[in-house]
Amino acid sequence: MRHFLTLKDYTKEEILEILALGLEIKHEVKAKVFKPRLAHQTLAMIFEKSSTRTRVSFEVGMFQLGGHALFLSNRDIHLGRGEPVKDTARVISSMCDMVMIRTYEHSKLEEFASHSKVPVINGLSDSYHPVQLLADYMTMMECGKDINPVVAYVGDGNNMTHSWLMLAAKLGFELRVATPKGYECDPLIVIDAMELAQESGAKITITNDPKEAVVGASVVTTDTWISMGQEDEKTQRINDFKGYIVDEALMALAREDAIFLHCLPAYREVEVSEAVLEGKQSLILEEAENRLHAQKGLMVWLDKHR
Ligand code: CP
Ligand code: NVA
Repeated sequence: MRHFLTLKDYTKEEILEILALGLEIKHEVKAKVFKPRLAHQTLAMIFEKSSTRTRVSFEVGMFQLGGHALFLSNRDIHLGRGEPVKDTARVISSMCDMVMIRTYEHSKLEEFASHSKVPVINGLSDSYHPVQLLADYMTMMECGKDINPVVAYVGDGNNMTHSWLMLAAKLGFELRVATPKGYECDPLIVIDAMELAQESGAKITITNDPKEAVVGASVVTTDTWISMGQEDEKTQRINDFKGYIVDEALMALAREDAIFLHCLPAYREVEVSEAVLEGKQSLILEEAENRLHAQKGLMVWLDKHR
């Protein structure tokens, strides 16, 4: 049985297999063909942070696969008032077929997974957001930007950046990360990614200069400067990230046919300008929809591998 906590645990072949399955199911559903691949199965979704895309995509995805999803927020279950992770994991996994968790510390997810009898999926932790990267790469595949991509990530060294590092390191493409000083990625995750990159041939560059990252890029991406749990740092962060907005001037340095991605939710005129977010290079809505399709591929794949 496999969990899906970080892309670090997956080979290039496995990631591409999950995405191929997701695309196959996407095409079926677009043709109104709904195969009950997960009939009578239940996905427990534990949310310790809020969500629009993750909740809707997993719940709708499970329904379309013939299964059922349970939404469990911290206010609904005893985990939120201190019932041990171990007990929650053993109880929920004795009744459900899969669990998705959105939480703060990545270690909580690992602890849950170590006591779970069923596959556990990371729906976002402070360290990683791997299901988002499945959707992002699916979006790149659909417009041919998976061929020798040069991805520029501009912004905070956060869970999204860490996931981009892992994806690039596993698939072997070029990734340039530009963060302000003091907001760099977790150095241990960078070391891991650099080691993996040696095997895969990925070229990873870390800089503090957004322009250096974006010049000639085929994919430009960013994420909020204020992740969930960092709300108190908002004023400080907006000040410290000056010069890191992805606007038309920065996009103009990328390839003419470059695409723009953002996992959403976005703060307009903070990390990205309205013109870029709503511009013709932006694929944010295709990317968001692909959460549904990529995650169905993932759930079916995890079911096959138990
Ligand atoms: N991108 C993403 O995970 O969005 P939500 O926080 O709305 O789930
Ligand atoms: N980095 C953001 C991603 C939101 C989907 C956060 O953790 O809040």
